[in-house]
Amino acid sequence: MDDKAVLEVVEECIYIPRSRKSNTLQQDVMQGLMKSPRSLPAKYFYDERGSLLFDQICQTEEYYPTRVEAELLDCYAMELIDIARPRHILEFGSGTSRKTHHLIQACEAKGIDCEYLPFDVCEEMLCKVRNEFTQRYNWLDVKPLVGDYTAGLERLHRPDGTCLYVFLGSSIGNFSKQSAAAFIDEVSHCMYSGDTLLLGIDRVKDEEILHRAYNDNAGVTGQFNLNVLNVLNSELQADFDLQKFQHSAVYNSEQQRIEMYLVSRQGQDVNLDLMGETLSLGQGEKILTEVSHKYTHQQAESLLTDAGLHILRHIEPENAWFSLLLARMP
Ligand code: SAH
Ligand code: TRP
Repeated sequence: MDDKAVLEVVEECIYIPRSRKSNTLQQDVMQGLMKSPRSLPAKYFYDERGSLLFDQICQTEEYYPTRVEAELLDCYAMELIDIARPRHILEFGSGTSRKTHHLIQACEAKGIDCEYLPFDVCEEMLCKVRNEFTQRYNWLDVKPLVGDYTAGLERLHRPDGTCLYVFLGSSIGNFSKQSAAAFIDEVSHCMYSGDTLLLGIDRVKDEEILHRAYNDNAGVTGQFNLNVLNVLNSELQADFDLQKFQHSAVYNSEQQRIEMYLVSRQGQDVNLDLMGETLSLGQGEKILTEVSHKYTHQQAESLLTDAGLHILRHIEPENAWFSLLLARMP
């Protein structure tokens, strides 16, 4: 191995410090899990196994958002990149970055020399992505950013030069509608005039299709949901028995959102040794682990325009199952 190769392997990720106080896992557990109605923040899903399971969800027949969004990117990446002309592509919640290849390849085809900054809580995944992308695109600089995008963006490494911010997979739907607006507002405060934001957002549609997307036949979504208990077991020396919980995902049409729960199959006590706490659950008691809001065409646009952004493109498939929006900071 030559010196350069060694350097590439040891090169580290950039850690993004929180710019406001946010809870530790223990605080989140005290505030969310130990009190009724019980809930857990969704970011704890994504340890290494969780990220791999999520990737499997994306490949199920039932989970249409990834497929539809990838098709839109495949068709429109060139056009989007032509408009955005980025020096930097900064992607929130990048995960496996699989769909981002369309954007990078469009840059390559157009001779746009840019830098890729994937931002995620899952460091293992970021390292894989860095290795994969630097190998595949030898011209591309990859700077992984490790952090929690809900902990404030004030201390985000803001590169000089036109930046394309990317937020795919309808991860924006996992915020409450109010927090979603606040998040887009925060992103807009990072943006300089001419910078753009590419947002992928899932749409309100037939309930049956939504229900199937979050209740796949092979049970991958269930495994993913249950995996958050493994995270608590290892981080808090807890003794959750995954067999004693059941995955449930239901559509709440009033709030236009999927709600994901873990339901206790029986009365049980769970020890959280590190915290010296015991969680007592009744049979059928539910823990809310994730919400996934769906937006109408107009609601999706308002999210961006309310933050002072100008919509340049609003792309949707014929069935209008998903939206891809490109907006610019004027
Ligand atoms: N963008 C990808 C992955 C979506 S899954 C896609 O569209 O397929 C959500 C990703 O966001 C995961 O990789 C997860 O690790 C990351 N993530 C979740 N909450 C986060 C947070 N608060 N801060 C940073 N990354 C987060
Ligand atoms: N952003 C994805 C969505 O809302 C996240 C997601 C998909 C998810 N399937 C899930 C989260 C299952 C928890 C459980 O569609």
